[in-house]
Amino acid sequence: MSTPRGEFTSRFGFLMASSGSAVGLGNIWGFPTNTASNGGAAFLFAYLILVFALAYPVLMAELIIGRHAQANAVTALQSISSGKKSRLLALVVGFTGIITVSFILSFYAVVSGWMIAHFFDPLARLFGMDGLAQWLTRDAVVRNSLFVALFMVITIYIISAGVKDGIEKWASRLMPSLIIILLLLVFYVLTLPGASEGLRAYLVPDFSRITDPALLVNAMGQAFFSLSLGVGTMLVYGSYISKQENLPVVGGLVALLDIGIAVLAGMLILPAMYVALGNGVEIFDADGGLIAGPGLIISVLPALFSTMGAIGIPVAIAFFLLMTIASLTSSISMLEVPVAYGVEHLGVERRKVAMIVGTVITFISLLIVFNFDPLFDLVVTATTEYSQPLLGLFFCIFVAWIWRRNDILEEIKQGNSQVESGIFWKIWPVYIKFVCPLAILIVYFQ
Ligand code: PHE
Repeated sequence: MSTPRGEFTSRFGFLMASSGSAVGLGNIWGFPTNTASNGGAAFLFAYLILVFALAYPVLMAELIIGRHAQANAVTALQSISSGKKSRLLALVVGFTGIITVSFILSFYAVVSGWMIAHFFDPLARLFGMDGLAQWLTRDAVVRNSLFVALFMVITIYIISAGVKDGIEKWASRLMPSLIIILLLLVFYVLTLPGASEGLRAYLVPDFSRITDPALLVNAMGQAFFSLSLGVGTMLVYGSYISKQENLPVVGGLVALLDIGIAVLAGMLILPAMYVALGNGVEIFDADGGLIAGPGLIISVLPALFSTMGAIGIPVAIAFFLLMTIASLTSSISMLEVPVAYGVEHLGVERRKVAMIVGTVITFISLLIVFNFDPLFDLVVTATTEYSQPLLGLFFCIFVAWIWRRNDILEEIKQGNSQVESGIFWKIWPVYIKFVCPLAILIVYFQ
């Protein structure tokens, strides 16, 4: 209880950390493939509307609660609830968030492990170690277990170092590198034959799809996952923002960075797939749709890189480095949620909680590795399709129906004294009270 809380030292540090959390496999893998299989730019259009109309308001709810309470998710939700019932609800929602994010991390670590293995593959080939390279790309339990463990060790290491010396320091190094690598890859891939066809598949809208419920459900799920919502991640990061910071503005910047990088990633992945098609790689599945699942990243793209000749090696290294960085800046934000709770509520030393919780999550990941077929999809669906949107709904309820409106205003006014007369305060409270819960429910029951 007595350990002083960490704080981000600058706006840049917060932006790198929270956009690092937001930008992950969801942007570089999920977004482009969702777009391609849901009517191209029509999906992009629906996504942009949903991010600003639904996800941004929920993001703001989390940031405001977090900064007000300066505490982990459970304590924070309890501190804005005055009645006995609402405090109990706070406990349930906070804990469900902690458990959900731990399970998200457990499957995320499996996929991130593949990314690290594929990062080492071109390096091994570069040094003539073809046997090792083959081992690295073969989907086997031993390889997967080792790389899950490696990924979790790095995540635990960063989180053990704390908010400033762990999260902020690493995010401030990794995120600018991610943006540079992504831009270089986009520019390179766009010069290759076939890329423009991929760009067309990505950007030419099929507007007949825009009212398709499946498209809207996908776009909402994508928006919630991509902005790391509902599980207390943004709440905890919000609790480390300085009181001088203008919350609606920094929240907006995080959303913009997240969308910007997702859109850019689309300009890499889809053109790359069509370049691969031109090089004789199969990019369509049995139903005629673009391959979107794990096959895309771990078989289509590596197949493309291997048809590129010598340049294929640095391109493969850059691509899987990009994926590893994106995963890592997200995984640290996931582990921080249970760790913040352990440190503040149970009074255990950060390093110890990070080790214990990290080890438990690693075991769950290994359980998934050993029972991939029954468990992987189950954990992904339960956490991202069921739990996350529902938790997002509860965050809206806490802010709009349980917390006192004046307290919210006081909180936002710190760092933005004019907020009361601005557009944010005119729209956001109504949105979070009626529009968001209703929209989430409608989409949820689709
Ligand atoms: N936003 C991350 C991504 O897009 C995933 C994530 C979900 C991170 C929930 C933290 C919490 O990959």
